[in-house]
Amino acid sequence: MAAFWHISIIVLVLLSRESNANPAAPQHSQLDVNHRKPLQTFRPYNIAHRGSNGEIPEETTAAYLRAIEEGADFIESDILATKDGHLICFHDVTLDATTDIANHTEFADRKRTYEVERQNVTGWFVVDFTLGELKSLRVKQRYSFRDQQYNGKYQIITFDEYILIALYADRVVGIYPELKNPIFINEHVKWSDGKKFEDRFVETLLKYGYRGEYMSQDWLKQPLFIQSFAPSSLVYMSKMTNSPKIFLIDDTTVRTQDTNQSYDDITSNGYLAFIRKYVVGIGPWKDTIVPPLDNYLGPPTDLVARAHALNLQVHPYTFRNENVYLHLDFHQDPYLEYEYWLGEIGVDGLFTDFTGTLHRFQECTAPYPKNQKTAEALLQKITYMIKDSGY
Ligand SMILES: *[C@@H]1O[C@H](CO)[C@@H](O)[C@H](O)[C@H]1NC(C)=O
Ligand SMILES: *[C@@H]1O[C@H](CO)[C@@H](O)[C@H](O)[C@H]1NC(C)=O
Ligand SMILES: *[C@@H]1O[C@H](CO)[C@@H](O)[C@H](O)[C@H]1NC(C)=O
Repeated sequence: MAAFWHISIIVLVLLSRESNANPAAPQHSQLDVNHRKPLQTFRPYNIAHRGSNGEIPEETTAAYLRAIEEGADFIESDILATKDGHLICFHDVTLDATTDIANHTEFADRKRTYEVERQNVTGWFVVDFTLGELKSLRVKQRYSFRDQQYNGKYQIITFDEYILIALYADRVVGIYPELKNPIFINEHVKWSDGKKFEDRFVETLLKYGYRGEYMSQDWLKQPLFIQSFAPSSLVYMSKMTNSPKIFLIDDTTVRTQDTNQSYDDITSNGYLAFIRKYVVGIGPWKDTIVPPLDNYLGPPTDLVARAHALNLQVHPYTFRNENVYLHLDFHQDPYLEYEYWLGEIGVDGLFTDFTGTLHRFQECTAPYPKNQKTAEALLQKITYMIKDSGY
């Protein structure tokens, strides 16, 4: 716990300093990127879904710091836009489920009904509030069966602040931001220079130095996956950045928000062969890969095999420790679920609400190679020695 608060204080100081001034790309000398423990790339990625949100309210500074402390390879976030065009980390288009908005009487008259992805939704919408107004709210835990002690403690953070949490971590930690609800955001938020949500999103990543293809030197320094459910946004963003992208795939009943395609259509061999020109992988809901029957696992589909045959990674979502999310085959044991998905299905990354659990599982079953660790540490020392001695 001590280490956690220590890091929190440093980052909070950095973040408060950051929000006073115009955010500028931090200097590489400040970040010391070359001397941090590198991203592990020898085993499937531990993707901290909305931070360590199984423990701490989602998408807050504290949730991300906890995930980093617990061993996340990537911290994951949903990006939305405010009324005044700032990009923030927030999952729902409405504030109702995860903030104290209902207690803010000054905003009582802002409740609206909008059509979002072909459904009418009522609530307080992120797009009707300025960043300043959103910063006056406090975030709370989404689920009643999770720890409530952090409710009211943390603010909504910006995309910039989230990036800085990763960049200032004491080891290399990747980011995994989702361009969330792009059709809805572009309908409701207008930028004065005529740019779109996708432009602002990629410009932010470029500003902080995120670039380079999967596994390139640039990528390994600042690892990034861009994710979206909207294929046309992924294709559009491909013209602006060669950073790796992941195509998210919803439930079998949901059509794509932009191209109105069915699940069968976007998971066909033909479509996967098309989309792989723009993405390095897919992110399907786990229950569509292995559809359950009466809360037991049914026979797995061939989606993972077909994706791998096309050299596409598969990063399923979302792994959660609680009994209510574990199919009965797993006997209420999240480790057995990880064993199944990593050992039998064979996926390349997992979105988890409980980074610590996945990390402990992987440390037991696929520990960081000892020799590699020693060799890296020695190499680092030698690099310092050579530098210091001026050879
Ligand atoms: C709203 O206010 C009530 C009454 O003061 C309090 O019990 C509740 O916890 C508050 N809700 C949130 C989300 O802060
Ligand atoms: C949403 O509500 C409006 C107004 O009542 C209605 O015209 C529209 O058809 C509804 N849309 C959906 C998707 O239900
Ligand atoms: C989406 O496709 C379905 C199935 O073809 C069709 O019924 C529906 O009208 C389409 N929606 C839009 C908005 O085009």
